[in-house]
Amino acid sequence: MRGLHGKRVLVSGGSSGIGAAAARRFVEEGCAVVIGGLEPDEVERAVHALRDAGDVHGVAADVSQEDGATSLVETASRVLGGVDVLVNNAGTAWREPFLQITAEHWDRMLAVNLRGMFLVGQGVARLLVEQGTGGAIINMSSTNGLAAEQDYTHYNASKAGVLLLTKTMAVELAEHGIRVNALCPGFVRTALNETIAARIAPDFIETYGRENVPLRRTGMPQEIAAAYAFLASDDASFITGTELVVDGGQTAVM
Ligand SMILES: NC(=O)c1ccc[n+]([C@@H]2O[C@H](COP(=O)([O-])OP(=O)(O)OC[C@H]3O[C@@H](n4cnc5c(N)ncnc54)[C@H](O)[C@@H]3O)[C@@H](O)[C@H]2O)c1
Repeated sequence: MRGLHGKRVLVSGGSSGIGAAAARRFVEEGCAVVIGGLEPDEVERAVHALRDAGDVHGVAADVSQEDGATSLVETASRVLGGVDVLVNNAGTAWREPFLQITAEHWDRMLAVNLRGMFLVGQGVARLLVEQGTGGAIINMSSTNGLAAEQDYTHYNASKAGVLLLTKTMAVELAEHGIRVNALCPGFVRTALNETIAARIAPDFIETYGRENVPLRRTGMPQEIAAAYAFLASDDASFITGTELVVDGGQTAVM
């Protein structure tokens, strides 16, 4: 991918699933990478898995808390000597019927998926403005930010919020040479989804792909990592304020 080699990349939620695949992809592109994650052990394992491949560091912090987000951004900047790209990927999900969602559960979902994205995004954007070097931010939304999946009201609302957070950031940060875009993956096979799927049926993931996705399968984390790399690269130099849907055609079906 053009213009990625040597870039300093912060991947929030890089200790598992899509974020771990993204961290690997940016390392393979010749970037220096800081991996964020909630659990210190998981972050350590993710860093260890990539250490032989290149320049990788880890930070465990809760992005929903101001001090966690600040520590993530400040540590990344200190370790990498600045930041050029933010892969704003950390997120959580669980199923819950609308009628049963408590205020506490609503707040937690929004705190991780929207507040956390805002806090880390603002921290990195302030740094990029100070550096005066421009940069790229990619916020993780979902096809759940575009259409309503049953039993995910709080998740859907958080991911829809990410889309307008992204557009507004893009409009305000363009004058600083900072591009901001969102990714909307469909169903991707990760720990997050495997946990949810196992509670529904043993073959849920295969059946879901076959019955709901025109390409007849669910996505792989590497396929989302490739989209992150594209949006961060110079090949996407005129792309800002929009979302890239990576869903095997799922949202194209009537
Ligand atoms: N898997 C999918 O099908 C899918 C589809 C669309 C969007 N997404 C989004 O992609 C992102 C990654 O999902 P995944 O499937 O790879 O999940 P995952 O559970 O495998 O990884 C989630 C990552 O986010 C981190 N994280 C969670 N809560 C955090 C917190 N409070 N503070 C800091 N880090 C935290 C975890 O440590 C981990 O690194 C999420 O934002 C998710 O909503 C996933």
